[in-house]
Amino acid sequence: ARASQAQPGGGSSAPATAPDAVRLTILYGSQTGNAKRLAGRLATRSQADGLPVRLVRADAYPLRELTKESHLLIVISTQGDGEPPDDARGLVEFLVGRRAPRLPGLHYAVLGLGDSSYPQFCAIGRQLDARLAELGAHRFAPLGEADVDVDAVAVPWSTQALEQARKALGRPEPVLAHTATVHALPTRSHSREQPFAATVLANQRIVARDCERAVHHLELSLQGSGLRYAAGDALGVWPANPPALVAQWLQTLRLDGAQEVAHDGRRLPLAQWLGRERELTRLTRAFVAAHAAAGGDVELMRVLRAENAATFAQLLASHQPLDLLRRHPAAWSAEDLVAALRPLAPRLYSIASSPLAVGEDEVHLTVARVQYEAFGVPHWGAASTFLSALEEDAIVPVFVEPNERFRLPADGARDVIMIGPGTGVAPFRAFVQERRESGARGRNWLVFGNRHFTRDFLYQVEWQEALKKGVLHRLDLALSRDGERKVYVQDRLRERGRELYAWLQDGAHLYVCGDANHMAKDVHAALCDIAVAHGGHSPDAARAWLAGLLTQGRYARDVY
Ligand code: 2AM
Repeated sequence: ARASQAQPGGGSSAPATAPDAVRLTILYGSQTGNAKRLAGRLATRSQADGLPVRLVRADAYPLRELTKESHLLIVISTQGDGEPPDDARGLVEFLVGRRAPRLPGLHYAVLGLGDSSYPQFCAIGRQLDARLAELGAHRFAPLGEADVDVDAVAVPWSTQALEQARKALGRPEPVLAHTATVHALPTRSHSREQPFAATVLANQRIVARDCERAVHHLELSLQGSGLRYAAGDALGVWPANPPALVAQWLQTLRLDGAQEVAHDGRRLPLAQWLGRERELTRLTRAFVAAHAAAGGDVELMRVLRAENAATFAQLLASHQPLDLLRRHPAAWSAEDLVAALRPLAPRLYSIASSPLAVGEDEVHLTVARVQYEAFGVPHWGAASTFLSALEEDAIVPVFVEPNERFRLPADGARDVIMIGPGTGVAPFRAFVQERRESGARGRNWLVFGNRHFTRDFLYQVEWQEALKKGVLHRLDLALSRDGERKVYVQDRLRERGRELYAWLQDGAHLYVCGDANHMAKDVHAALCDIAVAHGGHSPDAARAWLAGLLTQGRYARDVY
């Protein structure tokens, strides 16, 4: 069993054992760590208020206890296209399922997390909030819907929800003001809010010159940070927007970058707001709405209407905010612009090194530079452009984002199967290093895919070395553009279906990293087919079997 019931702050001491009737249970479902962080904060705050609290990750929660809970807070994210995080699949299925119990004794509140640049914003939070009411439970605080700048909604929501919980549970007023309580708590040395200034040790392009998509290998120093990481964790990076992009914004809007703008109690030149503080590369519904209003643009307003959801989703997927500014001109004041854009958020990169192999003061990343042309002009991804341009000795603000669900098996004798096309291979470099250094006896099977053998076979020399040394036992390649026909990792899986199924029957752990929207779904479908073809399962049974592996953590995904 994985760490499940944790005291706030991450300790592993026994959970509060107050009777259910006066206890607040906080459940979280988290894919990238935000929901977990907020749930932890809620638990700390309610404890400081004298509320007995139990904090549990959704997949560690015994679902039959739901009928006995009196007060429940759920903090849950929604993945890009409307899916729950893997650790909350069981909970969501259980609650939305036809066999869900009535919950007339339950009081609850849901905080949903999401990304409003996707149309299914907070879908899972909304669904649970509505479903619990349908099951007869009583909502004690309205649904919270937090966007990528999570705290803007999460902080006031938490205050309100805890206030309601305290009233309902008959607790006295807190002695300390909430903010004081939060700040008084010991924090880790470096965190999302207080990143460490890591130094670039190396930055190397690792694909051929004629490769259309640049991929960089970065090595960063964490020396003196006190930060620790494990193979499978991610590194959070606070990027800056490309200077050329900031210049284009200023030019398009005819605004002066030197102009000082006050917002949220801070005064900075506009160029700095745009360069370091605001999200310029992701379009959101809120910004489309604000822009439509600023320009009185009837066409844009029409796209925002509920019946045009498909057109709107298409607009979000194909435009960066600047495209909108260019194609639907409107005048913006610097103040309004800063207020309408959402704060820049850090990006998570799966770590490509094991501390056992490179030392705990060093961390490696594999970064694909996002750069493409649309509407006749160049477009950039913020963090990948920022990282791939860094010179040696440059400074990057970073923090470690643990991913406890994406871990090698504790038992080194277990086999592992790793599926990682493109830069999805990054954590598997860490895994193979770790298995080598720890002397794990289990077999390691890597399925890697990219476009061309000669151009973008990432870490080719290392894999060949690992094969030779017997640290890698199988390597299957899906080079999509070398042959007549496209070949993807899932095609290789199907071809090797019998063997793959046999490995899984023997207890192998399976990992998938990379693109969530297409690849991970196609791989999932291939795994289902394999269970049907080689395990004699019906399609339904195959799906249930895979869902079981996901729930147990034997099938883990790090997808984005
Ligand atoms: P393509 O670009 O030739 O379509 C990493 O990006 C690799 O993943 C590339 O070889 C890419 O192929 C491939 N890829 C694209 N879509 C995929 C999908 N749905 N499933 C698996 N691999 C995919």
